[in-house]
Amino acid sequence: MIERESPVSENRVLVLFAHPAQEKSRVNRILVEGIRDLPGVTVHDLYEAYPELDIEVRREQELLLAHDVIVFQHPFFWYSTPAILKEWQDLVLEHGWAYGSTGNALHGKRMLNAVTTGGREVAYARDGHNHFTMRELLVPLEQTARLCGMRFLAPFVVHGTLGMTREQADRHASDWRRTIEALRDDRVDLDRAVAAARLNADFDALLRD
Ligand SMILES: Cc1cc2nc3c(=O)[nH]c(=O)nc-3n(C[C@H](O)[C@H](O)[C@H](O)COP(=O)(O)O)c2cc1C
Repeated sequence: MIERESPVSENRVLVLFAHPAQEKSRVNRILVEGIRDLPGVTVHDLYEAYPELDIEVRREQELLLAHDVIVFQHPFFWYSTPAILKEWQDLVLEHGWAYGSTGNALHGKRMLNAVTTGGREVAYARDGHNHFTMRELLVPLEQTARLCGMRFLAPFVVHGTLGMTREQADRHASDWRRTIEALRDDRVDLDRAVAAARLNADFDALLRD
């Protein structure tokens, strides 16, 4: 089901939400519930829409055209997205539409990931357990965005979900809502948001002066 609010804002935000086992989700569910009611924000639950991964390409392309900021919201699975988001990219980002000499449908839009990870922040570093930073691990998505003429912003990352309390998750949900509102209302300095390690480290520093 797509929940679409009437746009009253400068940017319309499309959240492509991908969690294959929502009944088991703790953190993503709280994050997504916190933004559902926002005007100008469309939450599109991909696994609910396409439980058999039978993605409707034209419908997805129309949704993309109707929005300015595209968000992939998902748990980190094997240092990447859940499978449906890969299938979505493979099918929806068509040559001649999203990229190629005539493929300019997405030019000028912004794209980012909102990711939750079981691993703690210290694990995502050169000398940490996972050896790479989140920005490094998201490079295939960054280059995909670039090839499609979109600006790839730093991710919103919630680390350490495994032992997270409800209060901690609620605080992240409130940060996420504030981030989405600022993106919608064009209050984010895009150059700084592109360069940051993650949006939710020092968000105030990423707002326009
Ligand atoms: C198939 C699978 C793969 C996972 N891969 C990673 C991973 O690569 N890195 C990591 O930090 N956590 C990984 N996790 C943990 C999830 O990211 C974590 O459970 C999720 O972010 C919690 O969010 P939720 O409460 O919304 O489910 C994985 C979990 C599953 C089920």
